[in-house]
Amino acid sequence: MHRLIILGPPGAGKGTQSERLARDLDLAHVATGDILRRAAQDGTDLGRRAAEIMRAGLLVPDDVMIGLIRRELAAPAAAKGFVLDGFPRTLEQAKALDALLAETGWKLDAVLYLEVPEGELVKRAAGRRVCKKCGANYNLLASPPTRAGICDACGGELYLRDDDREDTVRRRLEVYRRLTEPVVDHYRSCGLLRRVDGLAPPDAVYRSLLGQVTGAAKA
Ligand code: AP5
Repeated sequence: MHRLIILGPPGAGKGTQSERLARDLDLAHVATGDILRRAAQDGTDLGRRAAEIMRAGLLVPDDVMIGLIRRELAAPAAAKGFVLDGFPRTLEQAKALDALLAETGWKLDAVLYLEVPEGELVKRAAGRRVCKKCGANYNLLASPPTRAGICDACGGELYLRDDDREDTVRRRLEVYRRLTEPVVDHYRSCGLLRRVDGLAPPDAVYRSLLGQVTGAAKA
């Protein structure tokens, strides 16, 4: 059983790696960006508001996100352990999570922090393609689909996320530096932060992350 957070700037590989960790360690994968994009696709009230904010490269208000995480962690799936991907993103969210975990008596094992230089992040975002139908993720440079524009897994159409356009990526990076880097400092001061080089190829990054998770479980 593990309770983990994966942190890092936009495009660092949080989704790629946390999906695999969740599968291999049998954890709930709680990815706030995916939840918001699904809500937007379903046309819910939250989804409509979030779509506009995401398109602008800004953050959905803290109270909305804290409510969403409270519901996700109360769901039966989270009882087996979880990896949070995309939350917390502000100091206020991190403090709300601390309080929520204190209520439940749950403790975090580790906060995995993927470090990737900014130039690489912009390249990765520009190359990312996502399947409209099943959500599978490709990268034109690192992991292209077999047929251009078509998902290998389900044959669905691949698209460029609205917030992956270069000017929006730069805005997301600026928001990350201003609002999310203090979250990194918060977990560093709690002694939970585990840094991993996210520039390496995906399998190497995964091995490092797994090493950190196993090490944290033994500690
Ligand atoms: P979200 O979806 O969480 O976006 P993000 O954090 O900006 O992260 P990304 O999905 O862009 O990247 P990633 O780190 O997951 O990397 P990935 O594995 O995909 O959030 C979107 C928006 O929702 C936010 O901007 C905000 O508006 C809102 N939101 C979400 N949570 C919120 C919160 N808590 N509070 C407020 N608002 C919130 O990889 C990226 C690309 O690189 C892929 O193409 C992948 O194939 C490739 N890649 C991955 N690893 C490697 C590697 N090692 N080498 C080469 N390529 C690689």
